[in-house]
Amino acid sequence: MSTSADIHHYIRTIPDFPKPGVMFRDVTTLFADPRGFRMAIDQLLHPYSGTRFDKVIGLEARGFILGGAVAHQLSAGFVPVRKKGKLPARTIAQSYTLEYGEETVEVHDDAVEAGERVLIVDDLLATGGTAEAGIKLMESLGAEIIGTAFIVDLPDLGGRARLEALGIEVHALCA
Ligand code: PRP
Ligand code: ADE
Repeated sequence: MSTSADIHHYIRTIPDFPKPGVMFRDVTTLFADPRGFRMAIDQLLHPYSGTRFDKVIGLEARGFILGGAVAHQLSAGFVPVRKKGKLPARTIAQSYTLEYGEETVEVHDDAVEAGERVLIVDDLLATGGTAEAGIKLMESLGAEIIGTAFIVDLPDLGGRARLEALGIEVHALCA
């Protein structure tokens, strides 16, 4: 049986990327490893075993890689939350700040129907700005947010507390 501690070994830390002072958690090494990637998807799903979802919401960009695999496993649909200007049809937008800058994300306004049960997926939770933006977009569309799932949680940056204060369930595989 694999443990979350195993996942940690597949992730490397790159100092001063993309800006001085940031310790960047690089999950591409986890994604590249056949056993690591499978373990990650299995473990992301574990807390939600037996739970029904209509859609998995992936946050750009690494949330697309994880969210696609998770959606396949759940037999759910997949919806991308993208950086501004990338989606072709009508969108709603939400701006936010993160550890190293400011961003706006968008989702198609017909991607989720009111009352649909969604799981929000990303590789990493830092300040929680990105995830909160995704949550706000889903709330605007009337989705029921069942929970969130991340590979890495950086608790010192406050993201978990921020999402939990909104009443959102947070699961992460390692810190
Ligand atoms: C990273 C990460 C999360 C976000 C977490 O993405 O993949 O999406 O930061 O930070 P937060 O909790 O402070 O919002 P990034 O913004 O670097 O974009 P990318 O995935 O498109 O490279
Ligand atoms: N997003 C925000 N902070 C990050 C970090 N330290 N590593 C990877 N992605 C991030």
